[in-house]
Amino acid sequence: MGRAPPLARPEGAAQDWTIDQDWGRFTAEEHATWDRLYDRQSRLLRGRVTPEFPNGLEALHLSKPGIPNFEQLSERLMKATGWRVVAVPGLVPDEIFFDHLANRRFVSGNFIRSAADMDYLEEPDIFHDVFGHVPLLADPVFADYMQAYGEGGGRAASLGMIRNLARLYWYTVEFGLVRSGDALKLFGAGIVSSHGESLFALDDPSPNRIGFDLERVMRTDYRIDDYQQTYFVIDSFDDLLEQTLNTDFGPLYERLRGLPDLAITDITPADRVIHLGSQAYARTRMRQAPA
Ligand SMILES: [Fe+2]
Repeated sequence: MGRAPPLARPEGAAQDWTIDQDWGRFTAEEHATWDRLYDRQSRLLRGRVTPEFPNGLEALHLSKPGIPNFEQLSERLMKATGWRVVAVPGLVPDEIFFDHLANRRFVSGNFIRSAADMDYLEEPDIFHDVFGHVPLLADPVFADYMQAYGEGGGRAASLGMIRNLARLYWYTVEFGLVRSGDALKLFGAGIVSSHGESLFALDDPSPNRIGFDLERVMRTDYRIDDYQQTYFVIDSFDDLLEQTLNTDFGPLYERLRGLPDLAITDITPADRVIHLGSQAYARTRMRQAPA
């Protein structure tokens, strides 16, 4: 989401852009890269991530060493919530992506980052897609939210509003935080699959942390090249699902057409600001950027 996918369907991919995972072709080194990433992130996330996440890891047997075999993974996921994981060669067009989600199929990249680039990713790999996204698909409420998002995608596409809807995905599915009593916990896949951002999103004084508001989020720009400068905090998965199902998106899109976008660090008078970020990290990165 958010980046331009290739226009042509790659050779060998089916009409819906899926490919055979061909699990047997992964090398021992690739399995070892998964294991190292899994070990590092699962240890780091203890106490930082929403409890549905480790519950999903356990229910889906994701701690088993090696890159998961999608057939076995899908069998367990299907029993839990009726979802499946399917392999795709890379980023897919929006309408294909939405259609898979609406039919409870999660698309995953079919390669793993190199051992030399543990923290660098140009496109989502299996670790991001499976470790980051799939555990929460074993949670019935989150699973319903993802399907609702896919169904909403088709409507947004017909109204020319994908850019706004993609922000909802970005700020929840990829970079969402959730309230847990007085504390905050991680749930976004972009955060939980990133060592650095798992620390930054929760602990660093730099980013804003603002209570989730559907319309506000859909007006807000985001960045794809570095840690987020603003995170939105949902109250619960139940609340997120309810807001998504109970919102009439037609009138919402009409309002959004008449409103200016909000910049990444804007704060509005209506915001429920949980933490006003110093933006010190972002300023440091700007100084480091080439002229
Ligand atoms: Fe993702």
